[in-house]
Amino acid sequence: MADDSCGIRTLAIDIGGSGLKMIVLDGEGRPITERSRTRTPKNRTPDKVLAVLGEQIATQGEFDRISVGFPGIVVDGVVHQAVNLGPAWDGFNIVKALEDMAEKPVRVANDADVQGLGVIDGRGVELVITLGTGIGTALYVDGHSVPNLEFGHHPFSKDRTYEECLGNAAMKKAGKEKWNQRLKKAIKVWERVFNYRMLYLGGGNARKIEFELPNNVQIAPNIAGLLGGIALWRE
Ligand code: BGC
Repeated sequence: MADDSCGIRTLAIDIGGSGLKMIVLDGEGRPITERSRTRTPKNRTPDKVLAVLGEQIATQGEFDRISVGFPGIVVDGVVHQAVNLGPAWDGFNIVKALEDMAEKPVRVANDADVQGLGVIDGRGVELVITLGTGIGTALYVDGHSVPNLEFGHHPFSKDRTYEECLGNAAMKKAGKEKWNQRLKKAIKVWERVFNYRMLYLGGGNARKIEFELPNNVQIAPNIAGLLGGIALWRE
Protein backbone atom coordinates (compact mmCIF):
# COMPACT_ATOMS: atom_id res chain seq x y z
CA MET A 1 0.00 0.00 0.00
CA ALA A 2 1.29 3.47 -0.83
CA ASP A 3 2.45 5.49 2.17
CA ASP A 4 0.78 8.86 1.84
CA SER A 5 3.07 10.41 4.47
CA CYS A 6 6.06 10.13 2.09
CA GLY A 7 5.98 13.65 0.78
CA ILE A 8 5.07 15.26 4.10
CA ARG A 9 7.82 17.32 5.68
CA THR A 10 8.02 17.62 9.46
CA LEU A 11 9.88 20.44 11.14
CA ALA A 12 11.29 18.81 14.30
CA ILE A 13 12.15 21.20 17.13
CA ASP A 14 13.92 20.47 20.40
CA ILE A 15 13.49 23.17 23.04
CA GLY A 16 16.26 22.86 25.62
CA GLY A 17 17.40 24.78 28.66
CA SER A 18 20.53 25.91 26.83
CA GLY A 19 19.80 25.44 23.12
CA LEU A 20 16.95 25.52 20.59
CA LYS A 21 17.51 22.98 17.82
CA MET A 22 15.60 22.18 14.67
CA ILE A 23 15.73 20.22 11.43
CA VAL A 24 13.29 19.25 8.65
CA LEU A 25 12.54 15.53 8.23
CA ASP A 26 11.13 13.83 5.14
CA GLY A 27 8.10 11.50 5.22
CA GLU A 28 10.27 8.67 6.47
CA GLY A 29 11.92 10.72 9.17
CA ARG A 30 15.23 11.36 7.41
CA PRO A 31 16.81 14.80 7.85
CA ILE A 32 16.64 16.99 4.76
CA THR A 33 18.02 20.26 6.15
CA GLU A 34 21.11 21.15 8.18
CA ARG A 35 20.37 21.02 11.90
CA SER A 36 20.23 24.55 13.26
CA ARG A 37 21.03 25.47 16.86
CA THR A 38 20.51 28.78 18.67
CA ARG A 39 21.10 29.61 22.30
CA THR A 40 17.96 29.62 24.43
CA PRO A 41 17.41 33.27 25.39
CA LYS A 42 18.51 34.17 28.95
CA ASN A 43 15.03 35.37 29.76
CA ARG A 44 13.21 32.12 28.98
CA THR A 45 9.62 33.38 28.93
CA PRO A 46 7.21 31.98 26.30
CA ASP A 47 7.29 35.28 24.37
CA LYS A 48 11.07 35.46 24.22
CA VAL A 49 11.54 31.79 23.33
CA LEU A 50 8.82 31.92 20.67
CA ALA A 51 10.35 35.02 19.11
CA VAL A 52 13.73 33.27 18.73
CA LEU A 53 12.03 30.11 17.43
CA GLY A 54 10.15 32.20 14.86
CA GLU A 55 13.40 33.59 13.43
CA GLN A 56 14.99 30.15 13.40
CA ILE A 57 11.96 28.52 11.73
CA ALA A 58 12.21 31.04 8.91
CA THR A 59 15.65 29.60 7.99
CA GLN A 60 14.36 26.03 7.57
CA GLY A 61 12.49 26.34 4.26
CA GLU A 62 9.31 24.42 3.44
CA PHE A 63 7.54 22.06 5.84
CA ASP A 64 3.97 20.84 6.44
CA ARG A 65 3.79 20.23 10.19
CA ILE A 66 5.77 20.72 13.37
CA SER A 67 6.85 18.34 16.16
CA VAL A 68 8.30 19.69 19.37
CA GLY A 69 10.21 18.09 22.23
CA PHE A 70 9.57 20.33 25.24
CA PRO A 71 11.55 20.27 28.54
CA GLY A 72 8.56 19.90 30.84
CA ILE A 73 5.13 18.39 31.29
CA VAL A 74 2.75 18.95 28.37
CA VAL A 75 -0.84 17.67 28.40
CA ASP A 76 -3.17 18.35 25.45
CA GLY A 77 -0.84 21.06 24.20
CA VAL A 78 -0.75 22.93 27.51
CA VAL A 79 2.40 23.21 29.63
CA HIS A 80 1.87 22.12 33.22
CA GLN A 81 5.39 22.71 34.46
CA ALA A 82 8.80 23.44 32.97
CA VAL A 83 11.26 23.65 35.85
CA ASN A 84 14.21 24.77 33.74
CA LEU A 85 12.34 27.38 31.71
CA GLY A 86 10.42 28.98 34.55
CA PRO A 87 6.91 29.45 35.97
CA ALA A 88 5.81 31.77 33.15
CA TRP A 89 5.20 28.61 31.10
CA ASP A 90 2.66 27.09 33.52
CA GLY A 91 -0.70 26.94 31.74
CA PHE A 92 0.75 28.17 28.44
CA ASN A 93 -0.85 26.56 25.37
CA ILE A 94 2.31 25.95 23.37
CA VAL A 95 0.51 24.08 20.58
CA LYS A 96 -1.87 26.95 19.92
CA ALA A 97 0.89 29.57 20.12
CA LEU A 98 3.07 27.73 17.59
CA GLU A 99 0.12 26.99 15.31
CA ASP A 100 -0.83 30.66 15.29
CA MET A 101 2.76 31.65 14.58
CA ALA A 102 3.68 29.09 11.90
CA GLU A 103 0.20 28.39 10.49
CA LYS A 104 0.91 24.65 10.45
CA PRO A 105 -0.38 21.77 12.60
CA VAL A 106 1.76 21.26 15.72
CA ARG A 107 2.27 18.37 18.13
CA VAL A 108 4.28 18.74 21.34
CA ALA A 109 5.53 16.11 23.79
CA ASN A 110 8.03 15.97 26.62
CA ASP A 111 11.61 16.14 25.29
CA ALA A 112 12.70 12.84 26.85
CA ASP A 113 9.63 11.09 25.38
CA VAL A 114 10.57 12.41 21.93
CA GLN A 115 14.25 11.53 22.35
CA GLY A 116 13.22 7.99 23.26
CA LEU A 117 11.06 7.63 20.17
CA GLY A 118 14.22 8.41 18.18
CA VAL A 119 16.33 5.62 19.73
CA ILE A 120 14.29 2.74 21.13
CA ASP A 121 13.75 -0.39 19.09
CA GLY A 122 10.32 -1.15 20.58
CA ARG A 123 11.12 -4.46 22.29
CA GLY A 124 10.49 -5.07 25.97
CA VAL A 125 11.32 -2.51 28.63
CA GLU A 126 13.50 0.37 27.48
CA LEU A 127 14.49 3.30 29.69
CA VAL A 128 15.72 6.64 28.36
CA ILE A 129 17.50 9.15 30.58
CA THR A 130 18.63 12.49 29.18
CA LEU A 131 21.55 14.24 30.85
CA GLY A 132 21.35 17.95 30.13
CA THR A 133 20.29 21.11 31.94
CA GLY A 134 17.65 18.90 33.54
CA ILE A 135 17.29 15.12 33.79
CA GLY A 136 14.67 13.78 31.40
CA THR A 137 13.18 10.30 31.76
CA ALA A 138 11.06 8.10 29.51
CA LEU A 139 10.06 4.48 30.02
CA TYR A 140 8.73 2.23 27.24
CA VAL A 141 7.17 -1.21 27.11
CA ASP A 142 7.16 -2.63 23.56
CA GLY A 143 7.46 0.93 22.25
CA HIS A 144 4.68 2.46 24.38
CA SER A 145 5.47 4.95 27.10
CA VAL A 146 3.78 6.49 30.08
CA PRO A 147 3.94 10.14 28.97
CA ASN A 148 5.53 12.82 31.15
CA LEU A 149 7.34 10.45 33.51
CA GLU A 150 9.27 12.85 35.79
CA PHE A 151 11.63 10.43 37.48
CA GLY A 152 14.41 13.04 37.36
CA HIS A 153 12.67 14.79 40.26
CA HIS A 154 12.68 11.67 42.43
CA PRO A 155 14.99 11.84 45.48
CA PHE A 156 18.34 10.11 44.95
CA SER A 157 20.86 11.12 47.60
CA LYS A 158 20.45 13.01 50.87
CA ASP A 159 17.06 14.44 49.85
CA ARG A 160 18.49 15.70 46.59
CA THR A 161 16.79 14.57 43.41
CA TYR A 162 18.48 12.97 40.39
CA GLU A 163 18.26 16.34 38.68
CA GLU A 164 19.90 18.08 41.65
CA CYS A 165 22.72 15.50 41.65
CA LEU A 166 23.17 14.91 37.91
CA GLY A 167 21.84 18.00 36.09
CA ASN A 168 24.18 20.46 34.44
CA ALA A 169 24.37 22.80 37.45
CA ALA A 170 25.36 19.86 39.66
CA MET A 171 28.04 18.75 37.20
CA LYS A 172 29.50 22.27 37.19
CA LYS A 173 29.45 22.46 40.97
CA ALA A 174 30.73 18.99 41.79
CA GLY A 175 33.09 18.52 38.84
CA LYS A 176 33.16 15.81 36.19
CA GLU A 177 34.74 13.13 38.35
CA LYS A 178 32.15 13.28 41.11
CA TRP A 179 29.36 13.57 38.54
CA ASN A 180 30.63 10.38 36.89
CA GLN A 181 30.68 8.55 40.24
CA ARG A 182 27.12 9.65 40.93
CA LEU A 183 25.93 8.57 37.50
CA LYS A 184 27.55 5.15 37.90
CA LYS A 185 25.70 4.71 41.20
CA ALA A 186 22.42 5.96 39.66
CA ILE A 187 22.66 3.45 36.79
CA LYS A 188 22.91 0.63 39.35
CA VAL A 189 19.73 1.92 41.06
CA TRP A 190 17.86 2.28 37.76
CA GLU A 191 18.78 -1.24 36.68
CA ARG A 192 17.54 -2.64 39.97
CA VAL A 193 14.29 -0.64 39.88
CA PHE A 194 13.28 -0.82 36.22
CA ASN A 195 14.81 -4.11 35.01
CA TYR A 196 15.15 -2.64 31.54
CA ARG A 197 16.34 -4.57 28.53
CA MET A 198 18.21 -1.46 27.43
CA LEU A 199 18.98 1.93 28.96
CA TYR A 200 19.75 4.81 26.59
CA LEU A 201 21.62 7.85 27.90
CA GLY A 202 21.04 10.98 25.85
CA GLY A 203 21.43 14.73 26.22
CA GLY A 204 24.49 16.95 25.86
CA ASN A 205 26.27 15.66 28.98
CA ALA A 206 26.17 12.00 27.91
CA ARG A 207 29.44 12.70 26.12
CA LYS A 208 31.06 13.54 29.48
CA ILE A 209 30.74 9.93 30.67
CA GLU A 210 34.18 8.58 31.54
CA PHE A 211 33.50 5.06 32.79
CA GLU A 212 32.77 1.86 30.93
CA LEU A 213 29.05 1.31 30.51
CA PRO A 214 27.40 -2.08 31.12
CA ASN A 215 26.31 -4.03 28.02
CA ASN A 216 22.68 -3.02 28.44
CA VAL A 217 23.44 0.72 28.43
CA GLN A 218 23.97 2.76 25.26
CA ILE A 219 24.68 6.40 24.49
CA ALA A 220 21.89 7.86 22.33
CA PRO A 221 23.04 10.15 19.53
CA ASN A 222 22.12 13.77 20.15
CA ILE A 223 20.16 13.98 16.90
CA ALA A 224 17.66 11.44 18.34
CA GLY A 225 15.94 14.32 20.17
CA LEU A 226 14.94 15.64 16.74
CA LEU A 227 14.52 12.37 14.81
CA GLY A 228 11.96 11.14 17.35
CA GLY A 229 9.70 14.03 16.32
CA ILE A 230 8.37 12.10 13.32
CA ALA A 231 6.84 9.51 15.65
CA LEU A 232 4.45 12.08 17.16
CA TRP A 233 2.50 11.85 13.89
CA ARG A 234 2.27 8.04 13.93
CA GLU A 235 -0.91 7.11 15.69
C1 BGC B 1 11.81 18.38 33.36
C2 BGC B 1 11.50 17.27 32.40
C3 BGC B 1 12.46 17.31 31.23
C4 BGC B 1 13.89 17.32 31.71
C5 BGC B 1 14.89 17.43 30.57
C6 BGC B 1 13.27 18.31 33.76
O1 BGC B 1 13.56 19.35 34.65
O2 BGC B 1 11.00 18.32 34.52
O3 BGC B 1 10.19 17.37 31.97
O4 BGC B 1 12.23 16.18 30.41
O5 BGC B 1 14.11 18.39 32.62
O6 BGC B 1 14.71 18.59 29.84
